[in-house]
Amino acid sequence: MTALAMDAVPRISRAQSLDVLSSMANVGGYRAIIEAANVFGRLFTGQVTAAGKVPPATVYVIGAGVAGLAAIGTANSMGAVVRSTDLRPEVAEQVESMGAEFVPIPVASEESADGYAKEMTADQADAALRLYTEQVGEADIVVTTANIPGRTSPILVTAEAVARMKPGSVIVDMAAANGGNCELTVPGKRVVTDNGVTILGYTDLAGRLPAQASQLYGQNIVNFFKLVTPNKDGQPVLDMDDEVVRGMTVAKDGEKLWPPPPVTVSAAPLAPAPAGPSEEELARQRAEEEQAALKAKRWRTIGLTVAVVLGIALVLATPPSMMTFYIVLALAIVVGFYVITAVTHSLHTPLMSETNAISGIILVGALLQVGSSNTVVTVLAFAAIVVASINIFGGFLVTHRMLGMFRKEGE
Ligand code: NAI
Repeated sequence: MTALAMDAVPRISRAQSLDVLSSMANVGGYRAIIEAANVFGRLFTGQVTAAGKVPPATVYVIGAGVAGLAAIGTANSMGAVVRSTDLRPEVAEQVESMGAEFVPIPVASEESADGYAKEMTADQADAALRLYTEQVGEADIVVTTANIPGRTSPILVTAEAVARMKPGSVIVDMAAANGGNCELTVPGKRVVTDNGVTILGYTDLAGRLPAQASQLYGQNIVNFFKLVTPNKDGQPVLDMDDEVVRGMTVAKDGEKLWPPPPVTVSAAPLAPAPAGPSEEELARQRAEEEQAALKAKRWRTIGLTVAVVLGIALVLATPPSMMTFYIVLALAIVVGFYVITAVTHSLHTPLMSETNAISGIILVGALLQVGSSNTVVTVLAFAAIVVASINIFGGFLVTHRMLGMFRKEGE
């Protein structure tokens, strides 16, 4: 007998297309929020209506794996204020990119090597429990997804935490099948506590979106067959050097191959970060930085004073008829400063290349002056023509190249 387990696909990027657990957790996480919204008697999104203000619902998600992230994304798209905590600090960025605030456990935790969480230390567990109790008390909807493969799920939401919740609040315990993350969860059931909190322990959340779950499962199966039939002839070839195939193979030709060797996921940290500088080193660096800042400030003051003195001298030495030029120049500097600082950084390069072209006005002036009988004027005008031409044509060239980057091939 040869047996492969669809729920044993290693969590690596290459295997995502056939990862059934991820597909189902994703659908389940979405459905968890829909179930919660169905039971929750209020709006998710905040509104200002003629009758008065409606605050947005607060959703707290414990465990930001596949299911947790799907729940975060769904709750966020429905307008709720979403917070989330996970044992693994490396998921903070993903949580934030889904539109939630990451609330870390105050005690640092180990990073995972296989894409799943490790068990917590006693210190972490205490700190986490305090945090969960506090956050759960403030939330309208709580979704728990914390699961460590092969173990009963840890209790993260105690009866005391549930007692702190407002009437009408909802807990969706996605880990219910393994016992649940909430002390009061009854697997497969909906229970309402004395203080009016509904706890949903449904274990068939993915099945509550049957069309979607089936479609994704079917797609996973197609991708699985693509992997094991590399010759496209319908003959399965089990390459035991392929960690995806090896991970799924429970038995091959009657030989038991379970459990497979551990697989390191791409999301895992590659190397520990180098140790940071010592206290003395930091103090020395700080002192050096302060010295450098002081020096720079002194030079700035000297430079500014010299510029002001030179400016005044220049103004005094200029015939009154040319005064208007200075006024125009000063105004141009002020207006230019405000215009350019108001433009976002990403637009600075196109702005520069376009404004370079505006300096074409210099070219006009220089062309008018180049025929002058005064050699100095001719030389200056010629230099101006050269510099302004570089500016103008260079500007167009840069713009052309930048636009080229956005052009599709063959256009
Ligand atoms: P996952 O392993 O990707 O995510 C679990 C997350 O919880 C991980 O990020 C992990 O670091 C975190 N975690 C573990 N212990 C924690 C703790 N004490 N505190 C904070 N975070 C903790 O798993 P996935 O795929 O997202 O699935 C989550 C759960 O949902 C599983 O138990 C799965 O069986 C269940 N599920 C339930 C369904 C249902 O119908 N009820 C449907 C689909 C999935």
